[in-house]
Formats: sequence, C-alpha cells, structure tokens
Amino acid sequence: MKGLVVGNGGREHAIAWKLLQSPQIETCICTPGNGGTATLQGCQNLDIPIDDFAGILKAVQDNRVDFVVIGPEYPLSLGITDYLQQHHVKVFGPTQAGAQIEASKAWAKELMLEAGVPTAVSQTFRETTAAKTYIAERGAPIVIKADQLAAGKGVIVAQTLEEAYQAVDDLIAKGFTPLVIEDYLAGEEASVLALCDGLTVCSLLPAQDHKRIGEGDTGSNTGGMGAYAPAPVASPDILAEVTEKVLKPTLATLQKRGIDYRGVLYAGLMISPEKQIKVLEFNCRFGDPEIQAILPLLETPLEELILACIEQKLGVLPAIRWKNGSSICVVAASQGYPEAYEKGKVITGIETAEAQDVFVFQAGTQWVNHQLITDGGRVLGITAIGETFQSAREKVYQGVNCIQFAGKTYRRDIGYRVC
Ligand code: AMP
Ligand code: GLY
Repeated sequence: MKGLVVGNGGREHAIAWKLLQSPQIETCICTPGNGGTATLQGCQNLDIPIDDFAGILKAVQDNRVDFVVIGPEYPLSLGITDYLQQHHVKVFGPTQAGAQIEASKAWAKELMLEAGVPTAVSQTFRETTAAKTYIAERGAPIVIKADQLAAGKGVIVAQTLEEAYQAVDDLIAKGFTPLVIEDYLAGEEASVLALCDGLTVCSLLPAQDHKRIGEGDTGSNTGGMGAYAPAPVASPDILAEVTEKVLKPTLATLQKRGIDYRGVLYAGLMISPEKQIKVLEFNCRFGDPEIQAILPLLETPLEELILACIEQKLGVLPAIRWKNGSSICVVAASQGYPEAYEKGKVITGIETAEAQDVFVFQAGTQWVNHQLITDGGRVLGITAIGETFQSAREKVYQGVNCIQFAGKTYRRDIGYRVC
C-alpha cells in the first residue's frame, strides 16, 4: 500500500516513519515533508503546500495512493477532507464541519455544553468593554483565548486583572475576535488522543506535553517543547472516565449534528488535585510533539488503525498493542522561539544520536546544498524509550547532546514530574 501524509512537522515525520515500519506499506509520500522525510527510506517528498488541495489530489491520483493522513489542523479547517472525499480518496481526518472542534473554541465550548462534557465556565466576547467587565466580575487568574487557530499563541493565562485586560487589548489588536474568556483551572494537564471512526472512539496511550518555553513550566506558551507517554496522571481509571464523560458524549453530539467524524479527537485535559477532569480544548489531529512520544511505543501497525477509522471498523479492531516501557520526546528549537528566530543554521550529529538508540524526528529542517539546515521554530523532536522514564530520560538527553546547531534551545527538564 501507499500512504500520503500531508504536513511538514515532527508529527508528520513520525507518522511516515511509523507507517513505513509496516510490511504492508511500500512507500509513503509527504506533501511537502521536511528534511527528515526527505531522507527517510521509502519516503518521498513532493513540494506541494498543505492547502493546495488540487495539487495533493493530483499527487494521490498520479501515484495511486491508497490513503491520505492529514497531519495539521489548518488544511482540515479549510475542508481538505471534504474535497478529497468528493474525489473518492480515503482520508484520515475530520471534515471541515468536524474540524470546527479545534478551529473555533466558541464552537467547541457550545458543543461541550450540549454534550455535558466537563469544562471551565466561559463566555464569548466580540467587544473589549464587555470582555473587561466580565473579567472584573470573574476575577483573576483568568484565561483569555482567541477563538480561532493561532498555532499555540492565542491563549493567555493571566495572573492578574491588569494582565487580563492587556491580553484582551493585545489579542483584539492582532485581529483575534471573538475571544473566549474562561475560568482558570489548576491541576496537571494530559493529552488524550483518541481514534474515531464516526461511531466508536478508542484512546491511544495518554501523554503529557510541556507547553511552556521555560523550565519548570514557565514563560510563554509554545506548540510544545517536549512530551512523554504513557502519562501516569491519566491513570486507567481516569482514562475510562475520559472515555465515558468526554469522548463518547462528544462523539454522540457530533453525530447528532450530522458530523461524521473520522480521525483523531484529541482532548486536552486539566486534572485537578482532587482528580476531577475538565476539557481545556479539543484538537482535530494528532498532538505534536505528543505523537512523537506515543508512536515509538505502538506495536499495532499504524495503517491498520488509520484504515479502521476511515472504513468505520474501529469497533471490530482487536485491542491496540503497545510496547512496555516509557517514552520521552525533547524538542530542540531555534533560539528565540516562540517569538522571532533565525533559520538556516547547519545541523550536525543526527546520525551519532541515532546510533545511540534514539529517534530523531525532524520538524523545521530542510536540505540545502547537501546540508541539513534549520527551517522553523521547533527543529527536532528527539525521542527515546526505556524500561522506565528515568532510563528514557537519560538516553534522550544523551541524544540531544549529540546534536548541534547554532542557537539550539531545549528544556532540560522534560518528564520532571515522572523522573
Ligand atoms: P488551549 O489551546 O486551550 O489548550 O490552551 C493552551 C494552554 O493554556 C493549555 O495547554 C494550558 O496550559 C493553558 N490553559 C488553557 N486553558 C486554561 C484554563 N482554563 N486554566 C488554566 N490553564 C489553561
Ligand atoms: N502539543 C499540543 C498540540 O499539538 O496542540
């Protein structure tokens, strides 16, 4: 079989890598892919942008691709699945209607309310004065969120009223309206990525992402600076509760709205010290870097899971098989990320790292004149698995130390809650 993966991040490198481990997969195409997928054996990059639907369809038809996996949320929110399905392509990823669960936080909040899914109290505002009046009523800390997709940069957790008012002004000045203003939730976060075939949901191993740029979870929010799996905070009991109270009612409500949701339903959760779960957000695709930590532990061939979602056979699929052990992924980013950063720095040491039993998933990289150079904010996701989190962590940082590029920035404390 041939698979095509849309996207160019670490997530897409990890998906292509995992697909190609299956004897059923002859080749994989990435549109557009990155420096990592360019040199992955069995994989080919085609320089087609993620929102060029006609170009992607042509690549599918020309290469007789059997199924397509959509990595990022952006093309899903633009309706790539609807477009490809109209041309009889098998696609993993929800339709435009389903992708609203990530593309509009207000829409997702309303869906959660209807489904009875536990989530923070919130209100949606289009106008500054009303937003600030609401903030004054609710008090700080409080969370201000851009309704629309903002690549991890549209959420401000304000500790004081002044910060909250400033956040409203800043987000509105950047053109983000409406805003969702939400009560602050304390606790520990977990990412539960569930497969969904429109009828059934089935969660993968839970993961924990480190969203902040700074050690000890401080500083700005990013797309994710590292992740580990399985996250013990989402114990089997919690996971069962997430399935019953979050995933199933969400799917039922999507069905009620006539949305046939096939792909990943990702629940970003806050788990309080009293073990109460609340949904912070839904995403409509695999989490990145979470999936870079999860896939190395997966035993079941990935295409079996993907095809079961597309063909609505998740309910009859045998239980997903996992390797024993623990996985940690550390993101190496460009200096300055998540703000402005430079590109074009030469990367060395990947082979040395890989010789030490770590996986180096590439995100913002490309080949120029036979040199691998940085080409984005998050550059690499270095992942190791071990019998314990401690052993995975030792290995992964040995790998990180093998790799060099000017301005290499990473957190030294990924997995600190479990090590
Ligand atoms: P979101 O994109 O909604 O998941 O928000 C990004 C990050 O902001 C989350 O991963 C949390 O770290 C933080 N966050 C979002 N909503 C809340 C909330 N209600 N309380 C505390 N932290 C939050
Ligand atoms: N790592 C968080 C996300 O993928 O949204």
